[in-house]
Order: sequence, then C-alpha cells, then structure tokens
Amino acid sequence: MQTMMLKNKNIILGVCGGIAAYKAVELLRLMTKAGANVRVVMTQSALEFVGETTFRVLSENEVCTGLFNTNEASVRHIEWASEADAVVIAPATANFVANMAHGMANDALTTMLLAVTCPVVVCPSMNTHMYENLALQRNIDIIEGDGAFVVEPGSGELACKTTGAGRLPEPELILDRLVAALTRKDLKGKKVLVTAGPTREAIDPVRYVSNHSSGKMGYAIAAAAEKRGGAVTLVTGPVNLEPPFAIEIVKVESALEMADAVLAHLDESDVVIKVAAVADYRPQDPKTSKIKKKDQAPGPKQNSLTLELVENPDILRLAGEKKRHQFLAGFAAETDDLEANALLKMEKKNLDMIAANLVGVEGSGFGSDYNKVKLFFRDGTVRDIPSMEKERVADALLDEIATRLT
Ligand code: CTP
Repeated sequence: MQTMMLKNKNIILGVCGGIAAYKAVELLRLMTKAGANVRVVMTQSALEFVGETTFRVLSENEVCTGLFNTNEASVRHIEWASEADAVVIAPATANFVANMAHGMANDALTTMLLAVTCPVVVCPSMNTHMYENLALQRNIDIIEGDGAFVVEPGSGELACKTTGAGRLPEPELILDRLVAALTRKDLKGKKVLVTAGPTREAIDPVRYVSNHSSGKMGYAIAAAAEKRGGAVTLVTGPVNLEPPFAIEIVKVESALEMADAVLAHLDESDVVIKVAAVADYRPQDPKTSKIKKKDQAPGPKQNSLTLELVENPDILRLAGEKKRHQFLAGFAAETDDLEANALLKMEKKNLDMIAANLVGVEGSGFGSDYNKVKLFFRDGTVRDIPSMEKERVADALLDEIATRLT
C-alpha cells in the first residue's frame, strides 16, 4: 500500500461512541507509523468506550474532546480543521452520519467537519438493522453526494450478537481507503486491464510447469490504478496475495485461459498492462490421470521421462495486433542486453511502453518487494526507475502512462 503518501500529512481522526472505537486505536497506530501527524477528536460518547489518554499518548498530541474544554486542542479545533490534509471518522455512528448529512454543529467533531475543506473518509459501524435503516441509508447518500468517501462496513458477527453488515472494516483497509482519498484521480473514467502472476501449464492432474512470479508487481499496479480512479480488471494467475480493494478479479491458471480473459476485455479497455509471466510453452499432451513412476531399473542406468512442449500464444502480441485506441504496456524480464531486447519486444508486440528489468540481481525482480526497471516509450523517451518498493514503481509507471492518455 502507498502509505508513504501519509508522511508528514495532518490527519484528523474523529472517533464516535460505538463499540468499534477500540479499533480506532490501531488505526491511529498505523497512521503514525506511516509518518502522519494525527490529531484525534472524540465525541462525548466515544469517551465512554476508550480513554482519552490512549489516543493522547499514541498520537503525541492533545485530544479534542469538546468545544468548551480549555485544553489546547479544544481551543484550536478550527485551526486543526484548516491545517488538515484529510479527516477519517472511524467508527461513525448513525447519529454522527445524520448530523453530518444535515450540517449540524452540535459538538466539536461536527463543528470541525463544517470547517474542513480536505477529503473526508467516513466509516459507519453499527447494528445491521440500524445500518439498513432507510433514514441512515438516505443520510449516507447525502454525505456521499456532498463528496465524502464512505467505506462500506464489513459483514460478520457484531457485538450486539446479530450477524450482518455493520462491522468496522479492519484498520489496514481504512488506511488503504485514506490513501485512495488522498490520491490524484488521473485515471478517472479509464478502464485499466492488468495481468499478474505466473501461469500453470498442466502435465497431469497433480503436476504443472510454471515459474517463480509472485504477482506482487502486477497487484501493486492494479491497486495503484484503482486509487487513481481507474476501473480496474486484474487477470491473475495463481498467487498468494490478497486481492486489492474494489477491483474485478478474473482468476486463471493456464496461458490459454489468460489469453481468453485478456482478449475478452481488450476492446473495452483504455490501458492494458501485461505484467504476468506467461509460460511460453505448455505440455503438448497433458494427461487426465496421474503419470505413474516407472519401476527403478536395476543397475546404474536411470529411467527418464520426456515432456513434449508446444508454444503458447503470445498474448501481448495478439493484443498488439488487435489494439485500436488502447495504451498497451508490457514487461520484459531479461538476463542480458536489457535495452536491445526490450526495444525489440516493444516493436514486435506493437507496444506503447515496455518496462524492462534485469532478473537475478539484488533489489529487483521475482518474489522481491522491490523492483528496478527502465521504461522505454514508443516516442523514444527512456525513464530509469531506481530500486524501490513495487508500490512506488507502480506509481512512477502510472504517472508516465497517465500523462500520455488523451
Ligand atoms: N507475454 C505474453 N504472452 C506470452 C509471453 C509473454 O503476453 N506467451 C508478455 C508478458 O506478459 C510480458 C511480455 O510479453 O508483458 C514480455 O514477456 P517476456 O517473457 O519477457 O518475453 P517473451 O516475449 O516471452 O520473450 P523471451 O521469453 O524470449 O524473452
């Protein structure tokens, strides 16, 4: 997650009186860990659930608990509002959402909210029936219409022993949505298709041919594109990663399945970024039953097994042949002659950009959290991206693509 963008940001954390108020403590910890300066505003009912001291110690700031308290925070709450880069309300109660929807200023939090001009992220959390109540839903529509980013509650068993929607999402997810709220929407209205991970080519029902791709680079690009406002589809081979938020996921196994999925989405896409490490070959004749081991021959001679492989379609090349308006980008993993091989692939596959990386070097490539790539563009531009977290590489790459979209 691109939490580096929280560094040195002023964030107001508004805590209302719900049982999930304790989760706001963990959220505060994550935000300060990311380098944000967090100022906490608590409603009177929030104080019934969690002590002010916890928030004061962890935020290293005074906590604002009311309009008429004489502590520094309460006196300066309007100043806080004008200095804020973002506000997060977690948990937001039904009462708070109703007050916000109607522009009430009946406590420190609602008063401050009327004075802020920055993005506001609201995380409702309550009993399922309260959440589904039409009046509450109407109020949510109102605050969304006014520009608030509302994070839908999760479903599960609630503190009131009912099961359904109403749980405060995990702090990591709220943090992710805060980052999204702060991200420039330069891909708004664009459909982005990303492929990620390896493909698996069946030998028999229990064995396959594959490669070491972890999928991390493709997942980072998909997540970053969604935060920039893109409508993202991620076609993914088998990986061990959590799917990013608010993205259409299409799971595939083999190169043939990936080709079908990519070609089915190609026409509607504005940007296609093929990060997947597609297996170039597949077993010609995959068996429907498990291949049994031969009995070991006596003596030094060992048994052998030959697998006949046939070429898979080059998905990116097919997309290059069919492309019309799309911006088409590929990745090239090379062990030698990085530039010459990358430029040749860009030409052969009719790409607008290729991101080339050297595999087998430290700080880059398969499985690593870091990558170091060189971007080559059809217009001749070359950009060197030094070794950095894959999330940051994703942003650097999308910065370049977004400026080239008409
Ligand atoms: N690619 C693809 N379909 C294939 C092979 C590759 O779509 N069958 C795409 C990859 O997703 C990547 C780009 O082509 O975006 C380059 O992949 P790479 O493996 O580096 O190149 P190849 O074309 O397979 O050439 P080689 O393996 O010979 O380097």
